[in-house]
This record gives sequence, C-alpha cells and structure tokens, in this order.
Amino acid sequence: MLYTLRIVWGVFLLYAAYFPAVMAHKVAEGNTICSNITILYEIADAMECLLHSFEPVASLERSQVNFLVWKYQQILDTFKKAQEKAWNDFTPKNCPTPLAPSNGGLVCVTIANVRYCKPMCNQDYDFAFLRRSRLYEECGQHTGYSWTTQLVGGSRLADCIASSVAVSGQKSAYFHPNMNCQQTMANATAEKEHIRIFLQELAKKDIAEQHEANYDYIICG
Ligand SMILES: *[C@@H]1O[C@H](CO)[C@@H](O)[C@H](O)[C@H]1NC(C)=O
Ligand SMILES: *[C@@H]1O[C@H](CO)[C@@H](O)[C@H](O)[C@H]1NC(C)=O
Repeated sequence: MLYTLRIVWGVFLLYAAYFPAVMAHKVAEGNTICSNITILYEIADAMECLLHSFEPVASLERSQVNFLVWKYQQILDTFKKAQEKAWNDFTPKNCPTPLAPSNGGLVCVTIANVRYCKPMCNQDYDFAFLRRSRLYEECGQHTGYSWTTQLVGGSRLADCIASSVAVSGQKSAYFHPNMNCQQTMANATAEKEHIRIFLQELAKKDIAEQHEANYDYIICG
C-alpha cells in the first residue's frame, strides 16, 4: 500500500515538476479535481509518506524542488487564510482576535458575552512569566474590550519559551507530550477534551451560565 502510494506520489511529483503548464491548464479546464474534497485528503495521505521517507525528495532536481516549494507555499497560505478567518469568528465582536504564543496555543470559549482564553505551551516549552495563579486571560465589556495580559500592550496573551521543565503554569496549561498544539487542533476529539477541561475550570469559579458553544476552539501560534 505504502509502496503504491509512493509510486503514485512520485509520478505526481514528476508530472507536476515537468509539466506545470499542462497541470495549470488541466485544473482550469475541468474543475472536477478542484471541487473534489476527497482529493485533498488523498494528497494529505500521500504527503504522509514523504514525512517518513526523504528519498523521493532527495532525488528531485533543484528546480523541481523550487517549483514544489512555491506551489505548496501558495496552498499553505490559502489554508492559513481560511484558518485565520475562522479564528476571527467569535463574540464579543468588539474584542480583537488574541495572538496565540508560538510553540503553544490558546483554548478559547465565550461565556455570558466574555471571551476567555487559556494560554498553553507545547512540551519542552514553559511560560516566560509565572502564571500559576492566572489560568486564563479575558476580554469583554468589563475590560473595555481589550485583553488582560501579563505582556505589554496588544493581544499577545503569553509567551512560551524553550525549557526542560514546565513549572510556570498550572498542570492543565501544557499540551500532552507527542501531541502539540497543531496536532491537538487537527484532532476534534483531542480539541474537545481540552475545551471540556477549561469549561470545568471556569465552572469552579462560577463562570458557566450562557455558554456559547459555537465559539469553543483552540488556536495555535
Ligand atoms: C472524488 O475523488 C474520489 C477519489 O479520487 C472519487 O472516488 C470520487 O468519485 C470523486 N467524487 C466526485 C464527485 O467526482
Ligand atoms: C485524537 O486524539 C485522541 C486523544 O484525545 C487519540 O486517542 C487519537 O488517537 C487521536 N487521533 C488521531 C488520528 O491522531
């Protein structure tokens, strides 16, 4: 199976690299490829092979590599735009979109028209400032629709810095080993689990009424 996929992928790479004009024409001509979402997942499966075997990439010519970097960068930019658009969709509308820390992320929920975001760091990272008694940051009418933060200015809620120990935050403020923010966000089950934990933590502080579940999600830096 893996071998077949590799051959299919190899043929695709060579085809794409040698005949970009033909490919572009084909895509424009029949939008059957463009409108078929199944294909996006098939490409993702094929790419999984590349992540585990560098061989096909190593065998490409320099200009082929350059072509593919350019193509994939464009695709990645398109997906990132869609992702950011989704991250802007929450209430209260007057609050700016918070910036997630690099090497970590934010678990965000809206309750009674207040936005709560819990900063989290990936494994091997820790918060730049002690925040053990400060689980989350918030934005709402009571904050003048700006974010509370330990950092100076703006909507950056926390920094995650390289560290062999994770001691500056509460235990639940760290992503699981081998499951960083991006992986968690890409897995609906794992994402829900983090949101459930955060909602429980808020409920302990009597923040639970008027929960707007449509705006529960994780964003990554
Ligand atoms: C989309 O692509 C998949 C696999 O390539 C194929 O099985 C399916 O029939 C296609 N769907 C449509 C609507 O063309
Ligand atoms: C998604 O996350 C759950 C844990 O929350 C894990 O058991 C499962 O294997 C993950 N699925 C994938 C495809 O990584």
